[in-house]
Amino acid sequence: MIGKKMEDALNEQVNAELYSAYLYLSMESYFKSKNMNGFASWMRVQTQEEMSHTMKIYDFIDERGGRIVLKAIEGPPTQWDSPLAVFEAVYEHEQKVTGLIDDLVDLAIAERDHATNSFLQWFVSEQVEEEASADAAIQQLKMVESAPGGMFMLDRELGQRVFTPPAGEGEQ
Ligand SMILES: [Fe+2]
Ligand SMILES: [Fe+2]
Repeated sequence: MIGKKMEDALNEQVNAELYSAYLYLSMESYFKSKNMNGFASWMRVQTQEEMSHTMKIYDFIDERGGRIVLKAIEGPPTQWDSPLAVFEAVYEHEQKVTGLIDDLVDLAIAERDHATNSFLQWFVSEQVEEEASADAAIQQLKMVESAPGGMFMLDRELGQRVFTPPAGEGEQ
């Protein structure tokens, strides 16, 4: 059975993951409005990943005998100055989420909740990838900034990304 403090903190993280999904969905709609369909599709995959993070934590709370409590999701921004500004916002957001995951790990250790600590290690590794993929997109965008047709090529390339559900998902 999960402790109350840990249960509350994981419920907060469910909300944070839903907000992440909401943010990336808003970024998808921004790219759609600019007819940048590859970037939009990249954001769709990002949203699907955040939904899978949400469900991973949701299922874990339930599995540990906790109670899932859903709260209001904050409205995301709807407008950015440029594709680069969007990805800089992604990077900034993912760094914030990494901090939240680190706080959860600290709490799990303080509460001597080894099961939750072990569960959270997947998210620790996932955040390394999340930050790296946002940073990679920023570097690519900076490279094509002055190259004619570069944005078109990058749009096509980012559009290749597909959603792969994390291992173990949908089992049980
Ligand atoms: Fe996430
Ligand atoms: Fe993320």
